[in-house]
Amino acid sequence: MLKADRPTESDYEASKDQILVQLARLCLSGREQDVATYLQRVARRMRATNPEVAAALTTVLREAPTRMSPLKSVSAAPMPVDGDSRLPLLRIDASGVGRDEPILDDHTRGSLMQIIDERCHLDRLMEAGLNPSRAALLIGPPGVGKTMAAQWLADKLDLPLAVLDLSSVMSSLLGKTGINLRHAFDYAKQSECVLLLDELDAIGKRRADDSDVGELKRLVTVLLQQIDDWPIGAGLILGATNHPELLDSALWRRFDLAVDFALPDATRRRIALQRFSGGQLGAEVIDILVTTMAGASFNDIERHVMTIRRNAVVHGVDPDVVAVNSIRQLHDGTLVDRLAIADKLDHHGGFSQRAISGLTGISRDTLRKHRARAAKPKGA
Ligand SMILES: Nc1ncnc2c1ncn2[C@@H]1O[C@H](COP(=O)(O)OP(=O)(O)OP(=O)(O)O)[C@@H](O)[C@H]1O
Ligand SMILES: [Mg+2]
Repeated sequence: MLKADRPTESDYEASKDQILVQLARLCLSGREQDVATYLQRVARRMRATNPEVAAALTTVLREAPTRMSPLKSVSAAPMPVDGDSRLPLLRIDASGVGRDEPILDDHTRGSLMQIIDERCHLDRLMEAGLNPSRAALLIGPPGVGKTMAAQWLADKLDLPLAVLDLSSVMSSLLGKTGINLRHAFDYAKQSECVLLLDELDAIGKRRADDSDVGELKRLVTVLLQQIDDWPIGAGLILGATNHPELLDSALWRRFDLAVDFALPDATRRRIALQRFSGGQLGAEVIDILVTTMAGASFNDIERHVMTIRRNAVVHGVDPDVVAVNSIRQLHDGTLVDRLAIADKLDHHGGFSQRAISGLTGISRDTLRKHRARAAKPKGA
């Protein structure tokens, strides 16, 4: 668990009044779960300065007759299942543990770091009467790292990642979908986790959409209530979507933060190619792929590079040669792009003019003229 700096006894004395005020605020809001979560944090902070009170508080919390006790761990509560199919409504995704950080632009990374920083300084925020972001919406085209970012965030926050399985939640039994969603949220609330609502547009389509039947509309209504009831500062809700325009505006408003994920620019394509190639591709070839893979997602780049590496091993060929051969598929680039690739192949060495012409789809005559133009001294 990320921890803010431990308070000293005098810090605690100074903040006692603030704790009382915050507690009163939470009690009067009538949200039992938020009170319990806050008391749990106070108990944790007091362990160093006032261990007896901290232990007494922990006992009270543990024995409190509420099914929402935030002290339960993921493994303590049974995983909820659909009453009909018996399929689990959530799955715990541990694939982010110890994995590389996603490659992100500065703005996207800044937003994710903001979420982490808020959680680091939760006590400070709450004592200032502020709540941390409760829910963030990850928006972007396929394969740019939304799910990966959710896995990474959960790992950084040292929380389990629970992914809502939409196909199980949409019960075959009419009227049961809302109940499934409630059960899934109850479980997630109890177990302090990052809850990922993947492909949110599939659930969250506008309620007014004519094609939506009652079941889907009820589902959105339940979803709104559940997000509203999510305990402040406990876990974190993440929604992910490729189609933010399909989301109900009421659902949009529930997310404190919208984080945009973009297709990689040339700089990030290069970083991705270097990472995925594991040092197997030369700098010139990476240069070529940076150009030819413009418009590709990180996932496309990863798949392309892994195919190159597999082919190279299977056929016992240099990965650079396989990579260059793969650009044959990219003949439909503009002439300027293809000439740039031809230049890089020239520079790389080891490719005859006939091969470069074949690879780029540029006639040898055009290549010759291009080279003659490039060789001419400027102003001559
Ligand atoms: N930003 C990134 N940095 C590094 N690798 C990435 C990045 N984005 C995607 N990948 C690679 O592609 C795989 C698939 O990406 P991911 O599932 O996160 O995409 P997504 O944005 O959630 O797509 P979708 O909208 O289809 O769900 C990742 O597991 C990772 O290997
Ligand atoms: Mg995804």
